[in-house]
Amino acid sequence: MRRIGILTGGGDCPGLNAVIRAVVKNASQNKVEVVGVHDGFLGLVEKNTRLLGADDVSNILTLGGTILGSSNKDNPFHLMEEDAAGKVHSHDRSKDIQKNLKGMGIEALVVLGGDGSMTVAHKLAVMGVRIIGVPKTIDNDLVGTDQTFGYDTAVSIATEAVDRLHTVAASHHRVIVIEVMGRYAGWLALGSGLAGGGDIILIPETPYEEKKVADAIWARRKKGKKSSIIVIAEGAHPKGGQMVVDRVNPLSAERIRLGGISRELAHHLEAKSSIECRSVILGHVVRGGTPTAFDRNLATLFGVHAMELVLKGRFGRMVALKNTRISSVPLAQVGGKCRKVPLNHEWIKAARSIGVEFGV
Ligand code: F6P
Repeated sequence: MRRIGILTGGGDCPGLNAVIRAVVKNASQNKVEVVGVHDGFLGLVEKNTRLLGADDVSNILTLGGTILGSSNKDNPFHLMEEDAAGKVHSHDRSKDIQKNLKGMGIEALVVLGGDGSMTVAHKLAVMGVRIIGVPKTIDNDLVGTDQTFGYDTAVSIATEAVDRLHTVAASHHRVIVIEVMGRYAGWLALGSGLAGGGDIILIPETPYEEKKVADAIWARRKKGKKSSIIVIAEGAHPKGGQMVVDRVNPLSAERIRLGGISRELAHHLEAKSSIECRSVILGHVVRGGTPTAFDRNLATLFGVHAMELVLKGRFGRMVALKNTRISSVPLAQVGGKCRKVPLNHEWIKAARSIGVEFGV
């Protein structure tokens, strides 16, 4: 193995640079050159790359985002391109990727990404591209791994926000509805809601009844608790209701962007009571900045293991954390699925057993 490529796909997430650093440093010890691909798979279609040496990854362990740039709307199998008249057409550019990899002498590819990127990685692997996946996402919803890097940092940032909003809510006797990301899985809301001492946690896996949420707030009032904190995932929705879509991006494979359920819920709760209900959307804040020590270490272990797989020629696999050990799973088992919070998960059981409400 003389030269490999590395790219970051999908939404950014703390720890991406820590993985890039680990791969490049380990590769240079093994006399393997690393080509950094800019802006996800698009960089392979457009041959937008640069050689990464050990010096290029110096001091990036703690840096948020990705030094390579990323894209969550450039699936090479359905690349959306606008014609002169402004009409959008989908093109399959996967063969260009194969050709460009060959042309650039890239013998294997390490792909850091979430579900969308792992699905593309698997399809490229089926075409014969030698590929290793590394699981990232603040949503923690990738199957095949117990945890993705980025999640721990996002939980920590969201928890700090919940802590801060507790004192605001208490001072003003308010209800504050705090919305965190998490489209189809409520790991982030559950993790930060539990760690932040949220009174009510609402996740996509358990559609809630507004009346039950309101009752829980009143029950707290009767006990003398004049403020309440609700932590809600952006993808949570009332029973029989819909997720709140903030915008649609026709160029993206996952077209919808969520946001606003907290505002909707706060308005409904306030309309039904005399209590002031406010909402805060944390959004991308939890995706930015320095990774936690846990995420730095997980990212480093993932990067080193990705290189091990490359050197052993074990392609078509995604690095994974399984029962506290680093291992790998076939990419074929990962794409197109979502690891939701199981309803019997011990965090849910523990939360319920200390009086946290889920609105169901
Ligand atoms: O998948 C990660 C994620 O942060 C989701 O939680 C969120 O729904 C989505 O990405 C937001 O994407 P964008 O950066 O395009 O707004």
